[in-house]
Amino acid sequence: MRPSFFVTTPIFYVNDVPHIGHAYTVIAADTLARYKRMAGCDVFFLTGTDEHGQKIEKAAAASGEEPKAMADRLAARFEDLWRELGISHDRFIRTTEEAHHQAVHAMFDRLKAAGDVYLGAYEGWYCVPDESFWTDLQLVDGKCPDCGRPVEKVTEPSYFFRMSRFGDALLEHIAAHPAFVSPPSRRNEVVQFVKSGLRDLSISRTGVKWGIPVPDDPGHVIYVWLDALVNYLTAAGFPDKKFEKRWPAQVHIIGKDILRFHAVYWPSFLLSAGLPLPERVVSHGWWTIDGEKMSKSRGNVIDPALAARHCGGPDALRYFLLREVPFGKDGDFSIHALVARYNGELANDLGNLVSRVVSMVHRYLGGEVPDPATAHDPEAGALVDAAAALPGAFAEALDDPGGQGRGLQFDQALEAVWRLVRGANVYIHDSAPWDLAKAGRMDRVGAVLYNALEAIRVAALYLSPFMPATAPRIWWQLGLELQPDRLDLAAASRWGGLPGGLALPKPEALFPRIDPTEIPEGLTVTTERETQPAPEPPAPSAAAPEGDYISIHDFAKVRLKVGTVTAAEPIKKADKLLKLQVDIGGEVRQVVAGIARKFAPEELIGRQVVVVTNLRPAKLMGVESQGMILAAGDAEAQALLAPGTPVPPGTTIR
Ligand code: MSP
Repeated sequence: MRPSFFVTTPIFYVNDVPHIGHAYTVIAADTLARYKRMAGCDVFFLTGTDEHGQKIEKAAAASGEEPKAMADRLAARFEDLWRELGISHDRFIRTTEEAHHQAVHAMFDRLKAAGDVYLGAYEGWYCVPDESFWTDLQLVDGKCPDCGRPVEKVTEPSYFFRMSRFGDALLEHIAAHPAFVSPPSRRNEVVQFVKSGLRDLSISRTGVKWGIPVPDDPGHVIYVWLDALVNYLTAAGFPDKKFEKRWPAQVHIIGKDILRFHAVYWPSFLLSAGLPLPERVVSHGWWTIDGEKMSKSRGNVIDPALAARHCGGPDALRYFLLREVPFGKDGDFSIHALVARYNGELANDLGNLVSRVVSMVHRYLGGEVPDPATAHDPEAGALVDAAAALPGAFAEALDDPGGQGRGLQFDQALEAVWRLVRGANVYIHDSAPWDLAKAGRMDRVGAVLYNALEAIRVAALYLSPFMPATAPRIWWQLGLELQPDRLDLAAASRWGGLPGGLALPKPEALFPRIDPTEIPEGLTVTTERETQPAPEPPAPSAAAPEGDYISIHDFAKVRLKVGTVTAAEPIKKADKLLKLQVDIGGEVRQVVAGIARKFAPEELIGRQVVVVTNLRPAKLMGVESQGMILAAGDAEAQALLAPGTPVPPGTTIR
């Protein structure tokens, strides 16, 4: 049986739009999930949104919306962004789902049945204009930390959880399981906090309305962190018995700011409920932007989608975030640093390697992969070794062998791939196939280029969890049509796996250089709330009707990719529509297209099409459509748009 691997991200508050910090957690979890799938695990990757509580209630009031309407709008922004960043989650949970409501009630009942819930009084400070409760420690000079106005002491009835009972059990668990909290510095922090003595926790509020009511006492709403943490169980199927197949989670990936909730509150709730604890809680650092804290008032909150598009798609951003800082440490994001790594490491080291080698195969070998049997080259030893080191380096960096809880070392895994990429560049330079060709030593040319192609194939394999759209494009350049999720990592890692005789397509630039001096302004997020009303259209002028133009940024909002149709079928009772499965590189999209009058399903299979990939999914005749294909024709589709020559599925159109 395949080992189960349940990995989670935190669920995101829907009081604002997603930013680079949110994208970071999700990209890290996605990379781990993809690596584990490739390594043969039965992966369940969970993300979602945290939609209850005072924060959301207040944000909705400020934007003049019902909380649920605001949550719907912003949850869709998260889902759209994850789609655009190539996130492969298996489940997107929302805490306003009915199933979650049931799970939270079941959990509350379990804590109560264990004798760990009692009704008491919550004492704190209340800021009337702000409608906020604060503890003694939070006050600044005895005033509200938000607005600086005086606060009044209040006492409200509240249910409490006997967290004070669980300190010793937690310390024992942490001592017996060094991997439970990582990196080690964070583990120490948790241990110190627990040792300083745990206090009982208030787990209900009467002043908040937007939340899940306490069972049998609907005047109270369940504390949002208890509600939110239970999402991990809900997604596993709790309270139905089937949740035991998934639970416990193998890894919760979180930011350092929410460590206490995951490493103290959450395990205490689980211990009380008699449920197993998650295997690992791994926390990462925080990103600043150009050296400053991200904040809307500073206007420096970068929109991950715009940053990704500036670099031709999500992969450069994914690469940058996981390469730039060791996981666990804080980092600084700047678009200049992103472009510098893009040009230096992706365009130069990797992109040039691929195009140079493929070009030489065309120039010297008629575009055909040489026979592996003739490719033995003692000079390729270092290269073969760098490739052979990859499985161990990845296990060391991402699997935490020995359960020591060293954290997740994405940067180290990438460094191991780069040893192979740099090694291949050195090998080409030292072997100089151009000189060998001049000297007529074509057998040596074949051997050198075969080994270089192998290095590229294996590097793409290990890069694929980090860069899921790029890896299939690299393989395509080597004449292979592969999907990383369907590969067996161990078998695919073996040197000599590239079959001889394959015909290579013409080289294409994987990472066209970006001019570092041309960094567009306006990569920062806008929220609908902040958006200014559209200006009055200018008076029409004969020369240039300004109102007819859109800016390049408007156009860049439409994400177009080349896809290959892998299946097509009619839709019952809809004589105009066809249901297509379209491979867009690393992902298959179901698209409903109004082309049935012109095209028969069988003639579409294998054809390339142009897909709009960032349209919000919609249902047509009850069938979900996750994109749109482009066709020419006024009322009816006459012809489908396609690239002039075949390109790998997933190729960006710009
Ligand atoms: N809703 C809670 C989590 C509940 S989990 C049961 C929450 N949401 S959040 O939207 O505020 O934050 C989600 C994640 O984004 C956290 O892991 C947080 O650390 C991360 N980040 C938010 N800003 C960040 C940076 N500037 N840098 C890196 N990560 C950051 O907390």
